[in-house]
Amino acid sequence: MTGSASPLRIGVLASGEGTNLQALLDACDEGRINGHVVLMLTNNPRAGAIVRCKRADVPFAVVDHRAFSERTAFDAVLVEKLRAARIDLVVLAGFMRIISPVLINAFAQRIMNIHPSLLPAFPGKEPQRQALEHGVRFSGCTVHFVDTGVDTGPIILQAVVPVHETDDVETLKRRIQEEEHRIYPQAVQFFAQGRLVLNGRRVTILPEASSLPDSF
Ligand code: GRF
Repeated sequence: MTGSASPLRIGVLASGEGTNLQALLDACDEGRINGHVVLMLTNNPRAGAIVRCKRADVPFAVVDHRAFSERTAFDAVLVEKLRAARIDLVVLAGFMRIISPVLINAFAQRIMNIHPSLLPAFPGKEPQRQALEHGVRFSGCTVHFVDTGVDTGPIILQAVVPVHETDDVETLKRRIQEEEHRIYPQAVQFFAQGRLVLNGRRVTILPEASSLPDSF
């Protein structure tokens, strides 16, 4: 079982615009997540995510990966900062670095990612372009726990969107992102409520405690 009853201490790793970070901040503010983003780490000094943190008064740090010759040394600094902030759950929100076992093992089964395709279809780079080139009629997004593979971890939630004949990468990306902003906060709240149970590569979502019979 994952998560706990006290407010979840969330650490976000982001490299870009930060619209998923924003969706999480809004959900925390509005009580849809029982928790707070207590730290945002970015590898990109120009990330839009920084502006969003400043606006919301969320602590952040820039750890520029170019200053490190080894991926593991970069990850070790992230782990140190996440541990110092007593992070319960690490949320990758457009973090454009592959993370190593140094980080994965430090937060085993406590790292989530969102990927803009219906995994296991179209992992890796440019999933929207892959979907268009393959000619699928539906695509979407996947929230999953992170394991040592690229976009291979146990699936928590998925959402489906149609692919239109007239779509290009941008229009498909925007349609998928609307769903990202809906299901990522939902997955984090399930974690915060301790409702995600991992069994092999399958994730079971337990019913809400209040909906359980007294004898449960
Ligand atoms: C999202 O499309 C997400 O699925 C992918 O990276 C993008 C990040 O966008 N992992 P944003 O920075 O949250 O706006």
